[in-house]
Amino acid sequence: MAHALVTGANRGIGLEFVRQLLARGERVVATCRHPGRALELTRLAGAHPGHLLVLPLTLPDTRSIAELVREIATLDLRIGLLVNNAGMLVEGERFGAIDAKALADSFATNAQGPFLLAQALAPRLAEGARVANLTSTLGSIGSTDSLYSPSYSISKAALNMASRLLALALEPRRAIVIALCPGWVRTDMGGANAPLGAPESVAAMLRVIDALKPGDSGSFLSERGHPIPW
Ligand SMILES: NC(=O)c1ccc[n+]([C@@H]2O[C@H](COP(=O)([O-])OP(=O)(O)OC[C@H]3O[C@@H](n4cnc5c(N)ncnc54)[C@H](OP(=O)(O)O)[C@@H]3O)[C@@H](O)[C@H]2O)c1
Repeated sequence: MAHALVTGANRGIGLEFVRQLLARGERVVATCRHPGRALELTRLAGAHPGHLLVLPLTLPDTRSIAELVREIATLDLRIGLLVNNAGMLVEGERFGAIDAKALADSFATNAQGPFLLAQALAPRLAEGARVANLTSTLGSIGSTDSLYSPSYSISKAALNMASRLLALALEPRRAIVIALCPGWVRTDMGGANAPLGAPESVAAMLRVIDALKPGDSGSFLSERGHPIPW
């Protein structure tokens, strides 16, 4: 049975993906920076024996990615769903004072990391696997009309391009790759005023992922499956 792999799985949307995938009986590899501190993942692993493997991954560290892929190969796991969920947002940016490190870190975590991970995992993807890169409407060039969070927006626009390129690169494996926006969700990143809870957002995204057809590969979709302008 192919596994689902979720990055940034210790909290927020990633943790909710793990909960819902386990609840429907799937086998899950949950990655996070510090498995020893991921208490809810440890609890879930105990509650779903043999169904949840928690492994370390810090993005975009190439050694960390290589160790994860080596472990997956050693266990001879196939990945049927890759959720590139881990991401970061630098709060309070103001044009005139945008920090080079904020731009570089955002690109590294939000674009470089998912791209390098998908590239490294490509040989372990099951035939017809799905890859969901969690992006944002803030990365939509076509609908941007404010200067909100430039480092985040630039990095998510780069992730959108990475998604198109991965769709082409993984076509021979018949993988379906999408850029998927979860909506505005109440998490540490989304804040308390967001209209969607993580359970509702993830349930909607799983419906979109489950319904994907080969022709959808390379598209940019909302959590309801509506196309978003690039
Ligand atoms: N919430 C929203 O409204 C919203 C809207 C649009 C898009 N998104 C996207 O949805 C995804 C999940 O967002 P969220 O709201 O759940 O965010 P969150 O609550 O801030 O959680 C972010 C997750 O990413 C992990 N992470 C951050 N940097 C990492 C790195 N360098 N290496 C490995 N893991 C790293 C974090 O791990 P640590 O605990 O170790 O920091 C955490 O598990 C992100 O890609 C985000 O951009 C969210």
